[in-house]
Amino acid sequence: MKTILSRTPATDYRGEALVIGVFKSETATSPRLRKIDVLTDGLLTRAMSGKEFSGRKGQTLFLYDPQGMGIPLLLLIGLGSPDTIDSETGRILCGTAAHRLNSIGVTGVAIEIPEECSDPAGIRASVEGFMIGGGGIGAYKTEKKTGRRDPYRGSCSTLTLLCPGTITKAMRGGAATGSTVAEAMILTRRLVNTPGNLMTPVIMAGEARKACRAAGISCTVMNEKQLRERGFRGMLAVNQGSANPPRLVVMRYRPEGARAAARPPLALVGKGITFDSGGISIKPSKGMEKMKADMAGAAAVIGAMTAIGRLKPSRPVIGITPLCENMPSGSAIRPGDVITSYAGTTIEVVNTDAEGRLILADALAYAVEQKPEGIVDIATLTGACVTALGHVYAGLASNDSEWSETVVGTARMSGEKVWPMPMDTEYDKLVESEIADVRNTGKESPGMITAAKLLEKFVGDTPWVHLDIAGVEWQKETRPWSSPGPTAFGVRLFVDLALR
Ligand code: BES
Ligand code: MN
Ligand code: ZN
Repeated sequence: MKTILSRTPATDYRGEALVIGVFKSETATSPRLRKIDVLTDGLLTRAMSGKEFSGRKGQTLFLYDPQGMGIPLLLLIGLGSPDTIDSETGRILCGTAAHRLNSIGVTGVAIEIPEECSDPAGIRASVEGFMIGGGGIGAYKTEKKTGRRDPYRGSCSTLTLLCPGTITKAMRGGAATGSTVAEAMILTRRLVNTPGNLMTPVIMAGEARKACRAAGISCTVMNEKQLRERGFRGMLAVNQGSANPPRLVVMRYRPEGARAAARPPLALVGKGITFDSGGISIKPSKGMEKMKADMAGAAAVIGAMTAIGRLKPSRPVIGITPLCENMPSGSAIRPGDVITSYAGTTIEVVNTDAEGRLILADALAYAVEQKPEGIVDIATLTGACVTALGHVYAGLASNDSEWSETVVGTARMSGEKVWPMPMDTEYDKLVESEIADVRNTGKESPGMITAAKLLEKFVGDTPWVHLDIAGVEWQKETRPWSSPGPTAFGVRLFVDLALR
């Protein structure tokens, strides 16, 4: 998609469609809207006098053939109260525009950006919102397949942002960053949406390799034999019931310049279960189909790494994604089995459905060996996190308050919601085992903390943050800036952590 920043006044724009944001309580005679209202002989006054459109956040109104203007379509979008305007307003405005215009197949549009969100961050959020807002998930519908359009993208190929005032280099940079981040999110959404028969560990590793090559970063893939030789026994145990072999993907971004390259890296670790049946502790069939998305953490890390390769931050970043499939079979791990993880710690596998922490135990111990400044892992790890926080916040756990605050602060900037859970030592006993060093499930609640306590055993003193995205990686409903399906949660946060 092409993005143009332009100083053209909205009334001079000639194209397929023009989008204007309207604040609640704003009237057609406000300085911003008056010119259009006069040109169209009071069209806005009439449109805004009814009950249908009040400027409430996310509200939309199509006005066809506005007389006096050189466009066939004017779209009004509610921005809510002018008191709460920030860069997220740009995301909502442009995301809603993409969503609505996509439904009628518009290919080129201009959106007037309010002054308050025309700073670089606002422009970036606007572009991200627009590119994500139009995406769908019906990738395997045959009528869509025969069409030329990528189902994960909207119908628009040209976006013009009409900005008040001078267009600065930083604003253009914001637009470019937004486009790069949105491309990464689109990749993540496609990986997560792809069903388990078409997204096995081998296929996903191939996708990572291809994406890394395009982004100019290194990518090494360990196959089953190499995993065995190196002792990634947690991964091998989880995968041993599956006909599809596992893979471990390690992606490395190195900044230019010896000094920058010598800095300790940021390490990102993503859970990549391409399908989670639960194994011998099999899940109920109701809702099991959703477990194709149990690799959303890995998909977010892969997406983020591609954006990081293009945005070139001044610190090294390493992305680690263990990819496995959790299946029941005669060769599957059994409840009660004891395995030895990559770190040498023995784990009693009480429940084979608590598989994510087993593969993360290996991957985290491997991440520690890279001597990072900090680790962030991201995983669709527990239903308990969904019970605690629903579909709004991701759960956060950490062994280091400073690193935790850095991640929380960065998430606030990127617009992704994370909520810290307590990790006091009183919870340590949740993972105590009688037969081995630790057990993979707790004897009681709380489930999310139990999982985090197990992971904590594998990070040593390295600053570490765990993000449980079980409740937020997928959205059922349409939101102002995004359509139903994978949310690509974590991509923006990871990019911002790398750029910080
Ligand atoms: N992948 C699931 C967690 C999950 C649940 C993700 C709902 C998305 C939505 C994970 O592997 C799992 O099965 N966790 C178990 C752990 C339990 C057996 C201790 C759970 O949460 O039920
Ligand atoms: Mn599971
Ligand atoms: Zn799982």
